[in-house]
Amino acid sequence: MKTIIIYHSYSGITKAVVEKIKSILSADSIEIVPKHPYSSLMVYPKGCYRAMKGEVDEVTPEKIDVSGYDMVVMASPVWAGKPTPVINGAIRALNGCKGSQAFLFLTCGAKNSGLEAVSSFRERMNDMGLQVSGDAVLDKKDVQNPEMIENLSSLIRSAGEKT
Ligand SMILES: Cc1cc2nc3c(=O)[nH]c(=O)nc-3n(C[C@H](O)[C@H](O)[C@H](O)COP(=O)(O)O)c2cc1C
Repeated sequence: MKTIIIYHSYSGITKAVVEKIKSILSADSIEIVPKHPYSSLMVYPKGCYRAMKGEVDEVTPEKIDVSGYDMVVMASPVWAGKPTPVINGAIRALNGCKGSQAFLFLTCGAKNSGLEAVSSFRERMNDMGLQVSGDAVLDKKDVQNPEMIENLSSLIRSAGEKT
């Protein structure tokens, strides 16, 4: 199963999880960055506002071709109970994703907040034609737990086996 993990990470937590599952699954990955980065002063007021509104940031890379992959995994931190405007930008940048199997996961401070963010993330991916067949939420304890990382990798593997 050829897998790509497309992710945003502001402070490095999501990135660290991605690096681990990437090696377990022998996957490729692409880190998405905003064209106009959030400063530490503005990330809460501006980032949270834009996340709550479901805004879509301009991102690099501008186009992400996933046509060569069997499984598209997308990962984002939670900002104000939502996926980030940066990952929203990544979803919009996808090419060749219609009908692809997909999985999403979020990292967050508090599980409830992460669970709240799943539906809008899933909806946006479905709107691009991805077949989202699984999701996961990792809070700040989970991201440190190797068992949770193994679990996440297994969930992604089995989501890819669904038809
Ligand atoms: C601007 C901002 C808003 C956040 N909002 C939430 C939130 O609503 N709920 C939550 O559980 N965690 C929230 N967090 C915490 C992050 O989701 C959490 O630390 C995440 O794992 C960070 O991932 P990253 O290091 O990849 O950016 C927020 C963090 C930032 C910077």
